[in-house]
Amino acid sequence: MLAPLTVEAELDERRERYEEVLRSIAGLLDGESDWIAAMATVACELHGAFDYFDWTGFYRSITDDLLVVGPYQGGHGCLRIEGGRGVCGAAATTRRTQLVADVDAFEGHIACATSTRSEIVVPIETPSGRLLGVLDVDSNTPAAFCEVDQGALEQLCARLGEQFASAARQ
Ligand code: SME
Repeated sequence: MLAPLTVEAELDERRERYEEVLRSIAGLLDGESDWIAAMATVACELHGAFDYFDWTGFYRSITDDLLVVGPYQGGHGCLRIEGGRGVCGAAATTRRTQLVADVDAFEGHIACATSTRSEIVVPIETPSGRLLGVLDVDSNTPAAFCEVDQGALEQLCARLGEQFASAARQ
């Protein structure tokens, strides 16, 4: 068990890292209108910034009932998620972030990699409430994600939803 001060220092470091990476992503996406280029860039930047991110990528909303994998980094991800299944499906259906400390305790979790222990999935909505997809990050570390990750990734996804509000379903 880490001393409370150590935990605080680690959380501060995590916050600072997010500030840096979100600034870098904002710069890279400045003036960009291609949604796929944006997803690929975000997956690359986030995946390289945190060593507990073992699969980092997107599932795109194709119909109200179907998510299809988009750009990602890590081992291969399942291609299609139908019918609101899994953690990604839950995020898409409820339009709420799913912060899962233990994937084995999440009924219906889709195990693309047996090494995955925890995950966070954030929906990406346009300001008018259209679902573009979800950002999915999986970790091989149990309970890897906390409210710092949730806050920063939700901020990022809100910005993506605004900037790519006119992206077609593809
Ligand atoms: N973990 C996800 C499935 C996608 S992959 O793990 C890349 C889920 O249960 O929704």
